[in-house]
Amino acid sequence: MTQSHDNYHAARWNEPIIMEMGSEGERGLLVDKTEKAILEEIQNPLDSLPQNMLRSSGLKLPQISQAQILRHYTRLSQMTLGFDVTPDASSGTCTMKYSPKVNEALCRNASVLDVHPLQNPSSLQGILKILFDFGEIMCEISGMYKYSFQASSGAQGIYTNACLIRAYHESNGEGNQRDEIITTAFSHPADAATPSVAGFKVITLMPGENGYPDLQSLKSVLSERTAGLMVTNPEDTGLFNPNIPAMVKAVQDAGGLCAYDQANANGLFGIVRAGDTGFDLCQFNLHKTFSAPHSAQGQGTAAVGVSEKLAKFLPAPVVDFNGAEYVLDYDRPESIGKIRSFLGNVQTVIKAYAWVMSLGADGLKSVSETAVLNNNYLAAKLAEIKGLDLPWNPNLKRIEQVRYSWSQLCMDTGLSTTDLARKMSDYGLQTYMESHVPRLVDEPMTLEPTESLSLDDLDDYVSVLKKISDQAYSDPESLKGAPYKSASDQLPQSQFNDPETWAMTWKAYKTKRQ
Ligand SMILES: Cc1ncc(COP(=O)(O)O)c(C=O)c1O
Repeated sequence: MTQSHDNYHAARWNEPIIMEMGSEGERGLLVDKTEKAILEEIQNPLDSLPQNMLRSSGLKLPQISQAQILRHYTRLSQMTLGFDVTPDASSGTCTMKYSPKVNEALCRNASVLDVHPLQNPSSLQGILKILFDFGEIMCEISGMYKYSFQASSGAQGIYTNACLIRAYHESNGEGNQRDEIITTAFSHPADAATPSVAGFKVITLMPGENGYPDLQSLKSVLSERTAGLMVTNPEDTGLFNPNIPAMVKAVQDAGGLCAYDQANANGLFGIVRAGDTGFDLCQFNLHKTFSAPHSAQGQGTAAVGVSEKLAKFLPAPVVDFNGAEYVLDYDRPESIGKIRSFLGNVQTVIKAYAWVMSLGADGLKSVSETAVLNNNYLAAKLAEIKGLDLPWNPNLKRIEQVRYSWSQLCMDTGLSTTDLARKMSDYGLQTYMESHVPRLVDEPMTLEPTESLSLDDLDDYVSVLKKISDQAYSDPESLKGAPYKSASDQLPQSQFNDPETWAMTWKAYKTKRQ
């Protein structure tokens, strides 16, 4: 059954920041004093720390009662949109899907929660087995030889790929010569940004008449300076570039390596494997594509996979099995070094492992088939909406996402895609992703329904976009100030792009507002 979103109104609480709540001495939990016998046994543990490492003042933590904390976070959750509240197809290129709650329970198990990465590996055998086994599973899924789960975001995984490419060329004595990475304009921006951070010059191929670059444009930039190709496929447009195998071969013939950014593999499980296409290395986002939640920049994991010749460069430590037990192999003289502390975000790997094990190989394939079916159903339905177009040849099937264009509607009504996106939250739906930059599609909207949406969910989503289009044509002015019924008013965009207004910590917040 589809839902009517007409009566939606978000809760609006004037919640202060938690650091501003509570009062001196207030406590959520009273911790018992250490027993005398224990104190006598261990003495004061702080005495064993160097004096200059001790705090001179107390920790600045919120001092607040349990009831207040509960109210605070419940209220905040009422002002949030996303998959657990309404159908969410809005985060194109981010693969936001249902995150099975049972996986959270697994991560709260004491054998996951109460271990420390500095424990002796012999006491971490369960977790190391999961990391090792999941590496083998990822090899099967991708056709690669070995995996590392240290990188803790897609962008960090792509950066790891860039470092691996650099290490390979350096080991061949071509580190200085091979300083160019080639990417495509509709690959994720991290495919250009991270090689640049790793010291490469980046060449970006522009789309041809089908919406993706052709082989000729790639060949024209290949040279003895080519270090590698780093691409997303399907690209942000949802278009799958069938020239990729030929492009991979051309780059390798020129002495370069090819890295496949598979963050968007949601339509490819059991259908295409990076290794079979000839790629030398790749990365997957375990958050998003493998169902672990994205969770506001935390708790991500990029699974970085490599072919055999690159395995020795992977970040240390690598999890291995010596026939008797699972070990952490730090003895890797050619490793690119650490990408992140300890073993990365192990909880994300556990969630991804549980998700894959619950599906099996056939289930994974049906994830992809359903995601592609959902996406093409959505595209067919949206084609009926006035003012919305599918750029490039509409007969070319998209894989699991689409970058649409509201260009016609915007010309007809004087509105922008941002006006329309904001209106979504008046219907209780997540504001949609417009586009990465540079924007090559006018007035863009990028949707990715994934396998998690039912037919009703999809129809529900379409009905909201149709309402917005109808309202834009009948009364464009009424959309200009949106949202009106959401948890917050329109936020000034300029503040998002001004580092002077960002405050990632309480200290930064206080400094910038004083
Ligand atoms: C294709 C692609 N690559 C890389 C990323 C970056 O991932 P993250 O946001 O975890 O850094 C994304 C994000 O969704 C993506 O879609």
